[in-house]
Order: sequence, then C-alpha cells, then structure tokens
Amino acid sequence: MRTIAELETAARRRLAPAHYDFYAGGAGEEETLRANEEAFRRRVLVPRVLRNVGKRDLAVELAGSPLSMPVLLSPTAFHRLAHPDGELATARAAARAGTVLVVSMAATTAIEDIVAAAREVTDDPALWFQLYLQPDREFTKAVICRAERAGVKALVVTVDSAVFGKRERDHRNGFLDLPPELSVENMRDDTGRVRDIEMPAELTWTDVEWLRTISGLPILLKGILHPSDARLAVEAGVSGLVVSNHGGRQLDSAVSTMDALPAVASAVDGAIPLILDGGVRRGTDVVKALALGASAVGIGRPALWGLAAAGTEGVTEVLEGLREEVDRAFALCGAADPAGLTAELVR
Ligand code: FNR
Repeated sequence: MRTIAELETAARRRLAPAHYDFYAGGAGEEETLRANEEAFRRRVLVPRVLRNVGKRDLAVELAGSPLSMPVLLSPTAFHRLAHPDGELATARAAARAGTVLVVSMAATTAIEDIVAAAREVTDDPALWFQLYLQPDREFTKAVICRAERAGVKALVVTVDSAVFGKRERDHRNGFLDLPPELSVENMRDDTGRVRDIEMPAELTWTDVEWLRTISGLPILLKGILHPSDARLAVEAGVSGLVVSNHGGRQLDSAVSTMDALPAVASAVDGAIPLILDGGVRRGTDVVKALALGASAVGIGRPALWGLAAAGTEGVTEVLEGLREEVDRAFALCGAADPAGLTAELVR
C-alpha cells in the first residue's frame, strides 16, 4: 500500500497543474496550510506499555452514524476534476471502508447518484451533506429536502467562509471556475438552472436555530476554532463540531487545528463530539488528535490524491493504509480502543 505522500506524487503526475494547485493550495502565504501538518510533527507520543492490546476496536459512533474507524472523509469540492467517476468513486470507497463521506455542496455529481453508488456497496451507508447556508432561504430549504430525501444522515454546515479565502495559486493559474462540462449538480433549482454557491457573510447563530426548525437531521458545524464559539455551539444544541480551518484555504495565519483543539475540547467538556481536520497524513496523527480530545478526524486532500491516482481503488488505498497505521499506533501506545487514548500520551 502506498503512503499518502506517494499517492500525492502519483496524483500530481496525472492532474493538470492548475487542478493540482486547486487541490493542494491554501489561502495567502499558505501559513495555516503548513501549520496544520507542522502542529502534528511538533507533538510527540509518550506511549504506555503492558496494557493488553491484543484485541483492538477502532470503531466509533458520531451523530448516530457508525464508523469502523475514527477517520472520515471531509467535504471537498469538484471530485470529477480528479477522476471521471468523481464522487461516485469516493462514495464507494467510503462505504467499503465503513466510514462517513461528507458530500460537499460543491460536488460535481447529484446527491441521489452518490447515495446510490454507496448503496451498491452497503445497504445503509453513512453519507452526510455539507452546505453553505444560502441567502435564499427557500432554495437552501429545497437543497436540504433533496439531500434528506436522497438519504443523507446528517448536515454539516460550514461556518468559516463568510467570504471566499483568497487562493493565490488559483488566481495565478486563472482557475476560477469549473470547466463547462462539469457543474455543481446539487445547486440546481426547480427550473434546472445551476446556481452559484454564495458565501454567506450575514450568517449568525439565529440561522443555526432556523436550520434546526427545518430539518430533523443531526447538525454539525464545521470550521470552529475558538473555544467561545464552541460553547455557543453547545448551547445552540448542535450534534457535533468540526475543528477546522478549511485546510488552510480560508483565513491565512489562522491557528492550526491541533493547536486549537485542546481549548475547544475543554470548552465543550465532552458534551458533543469533536471531529478535527487539517493536516492528518499518518495514523500517528489520528492518535494525537484523539488523545487531545477529538472523537474522529477528517481527511480532505489525501482522499483527493487517492481519487486522482486510482479512483475508488486509490481512495480505498488511502483509507485502508490509514486504518492499518491507526491500528498499529493504537497498539504501540497501549490503547485497545479510542477511550484508551488520553492526553498524557502526547507531549
Ligand atoms: C476543501 N474543503 C471544503 N470544506 C467545505 O466545507 N466545503 C467544501 O466544498 C470544501 N472544498 C474543499 C476543496 C478542496 C480542494 C480542499 C483541499 C478542501 C475543506 C475540507 O473539508 C477540509 O477542511 C480540509 O481539506 C482538511 O484539511 P486536509 O486534510 O486537506 O489537510
């Protein structure tokens, strides 16, 4: 099995340079992009021993969805730029691995087709739907109803994007829109027109309350870094948070997610599960995040590298490679299950 770094090299060879840059890049100086990975390297593990780790169980449950391991696929845009099968390939790999795929609002495949692809693999796949609340409430409602009808199990509202981050690689490459043969299929309105995704600058906590009145699905907020916002989210009754800086693509010089995690975890104090994403590339990264208070991690770019390198098989390679590394890291840290990972293991 190839490492994520090897898959990135393979992906880079296959992708048009502007598309590689769209996936790889971040905002501004890309300080936050780098900081996410560096924050893992700066932390070391101080393992415990003699703890009988002969039978290990990596499974977790999040917002009512079972995961075979504490790794899920964070929402990323435009999978059909990476591979002709696009989101269908990603959904099959996630279903095969028994984990959650968070489908992006900017997916290039209709949500109904994505769910159908996952159902070819398993009866009851766990697909969540990520959205940016659109200024047009009726349209937002229609998108949510459509996702619910298709069978998604939770909504992930991205809140770190009041405006678009400035991705300078894309500006330099002139990559500002999808090629004409692709479109964001879940943004079709009832006339069949595909709308642009608008970044919701006017959003407040009242909108989160509104969302709870229109959908019975569990709601998670993605893009929380400040402990005060984490507290407000618990008060708002959401089912979970994604500690995320959007992979360094929004506010450059924002805190790395691993540096943000401990304060968020202490603010939330176990009330709701935390998912961390940003810079997770190795099983030991997963262990560090869990030890410091995450219930699971999300991966963004690694899945895109697998997808570009080899479609469903490539995403499977990423997920099964991580599973093997996570399992080994659990054993070598003296943890038989996620509860066995505690903050004392990380320095
Ligand atoms: C993203 N991300 C993202 N997030 C979101 O809420 N909606 C989206 O449509 C996208 N699109 C997107 C595209 C690409 C190319 C990337 C790289 C990222 C952010 C994503 O969900 C996640 O937060 C980061 O990717 C995590 O960091 P890593 O794993 O890529 O380091």
